[in-house]
Amino acid sequence: MTGQSIYGSYREEMEQCIDEMERHISALREELKKQRGMDPVEHFLSRIKSEESILEKCDRKGLPRTTESVLFQIHDAIGIRIILSFISDVYLIRDDLAGMPEYEIVEEKDYIRNAKPNGYRSYHMILKTRQGFFMEVQLRTISMDTWAALEHHLKYKRKIGKNEQLIVSELKRCADELASTDISMQTIRDMIFEE
Ligand code: GTP
Ligand code: MG
Repeated sequence: MTGQSIYGSYREEMEQCIDEMERHISALREELKKQRGMDPVEHFLSRIKSEESILEKCDRKGLPRTTESVLFQIHDAIGIRIILSFISDVYLIRDDLAGMPEYEIVEEKDYIRNAKPNGYRSYHMILKTRQGFFMEVQLRTISMDTWAALEHHLKYKRKIGKNEQLIVSELKRCADELASTDISMQTIRDMIFEE
């Protein structure tokens, strides 16, 4: 059958969840701009996982290829990525979302304080919405996003051969250098803000 989405009739409601989140973040940005004269959000991105990659994930996790699986067993069919200016803004948004009665926090992973061994950094939250949908929210700085984007290209677009160890350790070094710059930028920001 053509046009029959794995999300069935839920797709529209999933889009509404994204819209609600986007409206909330927009309102928060406005408020913070007024309060502090600075908008902490560089980019707000969202996506519903493509048919192809959600089916691939079902297979990988040994789940049947059903609407039930993709909505309730897999928690990142709805993905939100918010790119922020400073590390402190990541935690500002995290605390804001944690305080919202509309969302239940199902899982949190602080890959900023506990970076992945490869150097990946971001703050991940799995939220459950009032409608019962799950949403993966990734919060990261511009530097963290830059690294993740480039590492993703390298990982998925190329077959890494004999230099694998060197490539992995060089990528890790880049991640750590970017993280150190993030901390310096945070310090500069705090100095300016304290004046
Ligand atoms: P899944 O079963 O795939 O959900 O694994 P998980 O729950 O252990 O995933 P995790 O929360 O660690 O990461 C989920 C998402 O974060 C991925 O789909 C990517 O978007 C991003 N991510 C995690 N690790 C990396 C990484 O090493 N590099 C990049 N570029 N992105 C990553
Ligand atoms: Mg996950």
